Amino acid sequence: MQHIFEHGTNGRTLLLLHGTGGTEKDLIGLGKEIDANANILSVRGNVSENGMPRFFRRIAEGVFDMEDLLFRTKELNDFVQQASEEYKFDRNQVIAIGYSNGANIAGSLLFHHENSLRAAILHHPMVPNRDAQIPSLNNVDVWIGAGTNDFMCPSQESEQLEQMLQAHGANVETAWFNHGHQLTMPEVQAAKAWYTAIFK
Ligand code: MLT
Repeated sequence: MQHIFEHGTNGRTLLLLHGTGGTEKDLIGLGKEIDANANILSVRGNVSENGMPRFFRRIAEGVFDMEDLLFRTKELNDFVQQASEEYKFDRNQVIAIGYSNGANIAGSLLFHHENSLRAAILHHPMVPNRDAQIPSLNNVDVWIGAGTNDFMCPSQESEQLEQMLQAHGANVETAWFNHGHQLTMPEVQAAKAWYTAIFK
């Protein structure tokens, strides 16, 4: 997969996953804001929707092509494994940071591949799959950033995602912001405070 890798010094790796229409360059600054000393693995989604990169196909806004979602989730998980061998980083210390479509594929990694992520920061995610056989998520930490006026993700989506992750053992914290689908600086700062408390 098209990607950027930058070496850090603390043994952790931030897996950066952009929103629809983004690229692997979009979230580099955000990743450095969260943890300036981690490795960065920033990936571009392999699907194009009218020229806009995405991580999996959708049938309509908010309606996912489930077959493609499962295929692309495995493809990304395999890619992270290969990258860990090539760049020699610890596969058990990968923390995803995703926004919108990128948050949804990060959620899909958690739902479908055991031990795929050590932790995840999900900015404006949805429930990726209501029928998944979710693996154990013991020792997985997840932070969800949600907007009270998010047209794309109604509040029940964030609440249900939190409940489904918790039901399988994840430690989940959800933070609400009086905004829509956009990613704001206060949200990034809240994610950073959570991350710093976990990985002090
Ligand atoms: C998705 O398709 O993943 C969601 O609708 C969010 C987005 O617009 O990317």
